[in-house]
Amino acid sequence: MKILVTGGTGYIGSHTCVELLQKGYEVVVFDNLYNSKMDVVDKIQSITGKSIQFYKADMRDKESMRPIFEENTFDAVIHFAGLKAVGESVEKPLLYYKNNIGGTLNLCELMNEYNCKKIIFSSSATVYGAPKTVPITEDFPLSTTNPYGSTKLMQEGILSDLCVPDEDWSVILLRYFNPIGAHESGLLGESPNGIPNNLMPYIMQVAVGKLPELGVFGDDYDTPDGTGVRDYIHVVDLAKGHVNAVEKVTNTNGVNIYNLGTGNGYSVLDIVRAFEKANDITIPYSIKPRRAGDIAMCYADPKKAKEELGWEAQYDLKKMCEDSWRFARMNQQ
Ligand code: NAD
Ligand code: WQD
Repeated sequence: MKILVTGGTGYIGSHTCVELLQKGYEVVVFDNLYNSKMDVVDKIQSITGKSIQFYKADMRDKESMRPIFEENTFDAVIHFAGLKAVGESVEKPLLYYKNNIGGTLNLCELMNEYNCKKIIFSSSATVYGAPKTVPITEDFPLSTTNPYGSTKLMQEGILSDLCVPDEDWSVILLRYFNPIGAHESGLLGESPNGIPNNLMPYIMQVAVGKLPELGVFGDDYDTPDGTGVRDYIHVVDLAKGHVNAVEKVTNTNGVNIYNLGTGNGYSVLDIVRAFEKANDITIPYSIKPRRAGDIAMCYADPKKAKEELGWEAQYDLKKMCEDSWRFARMNQQ
């Protein structure tokens, strides 16, 4: 089976390419390299010993994607390409709507035209807004608090609407919780440009000495230690979830929605301590005011993915911290 991976040189996409190749799928990637580098293609190939076909294309420009569909016949598309920085989306909403929504519309038009109507989409726990309770199941009410989240919710709607008039469409919406970690080879991982917004990339820059200390955003939440609680999931576990989803999407039609999380909630201070313990390193931190838009607790009920996809996360927090640190050291973030 041949799979098109959009945004396949990015953080989650690159790990998914590895898992797909290791399961025997043929993989074609396109990316505009806005937030990733071309050398990721070589790294995927060196980890797996298999080759992938790479196209540089921008989904905002439909014609730049056409040769990909002209030259290949796909069994399914996994759609990772998109912009993902919450704060930047507040500053530059049009950029986010044009890229994420405009790009997805172009992709879907081509999929219709070339009769490839199976898609797995990278959604996010952000579509649950501020959940009233935890753990979160897929039928919780949806809302968003920033343009990034709105693009995810709109893309979910667009893909779901495609299934209404045309029963050939099969859509899987995967709502990721908080992916961290890296490939254990140390070759693939996340290296954001500039000062990181997310917790684990920030901790890694403190660990390598690029930043002096971590700011912990609030210690007065209604959580066991007062700091925010999230469902951190190893990126390789997340990637494996996509392989299970490929099997499902090619054998069903209509819309199916799954949380990809571990079901465990860890606080900011739990993460700091786990990172220190796993890697025998000290992470200096100080308590700062709450960050605007943050919620107290967010973790998944991952039961539906286990029952219907036969997938559940395997890796624990220690492994997530060890692999993150190996990648940071090897790539001197
Ligand atoms: P990433 O930025 O590492 O990867 C996204 C890739 O898409 C990048 O390589 C980028 O260059 C590419 N891209 C962006 N716009 C493009 C365009 N117009 N045309 C072609 N390529 C384009 O991000 P990631 O962490 O791997 O996230 C992948 C997907 O998962 C995104 O859609 C993101 O919103 C979603 N997601 C991520 C997280 C997370 O915490 N990392 C959580 C939930 C959902
Ligand atoms: C985690 C916890 C912070 C940085 C974001 C997006 C979400 C999804 C995943 C894409 C929170 C605290 C963080 C720091 C801190 N992405 N923190 N100091 O906010 O749960 O989710 O990434 O879809 O949409 O919103 O992740 O890693 O930013 O924060 O104390 O320097 O760490 O307050 O409690 P978040 P995060």
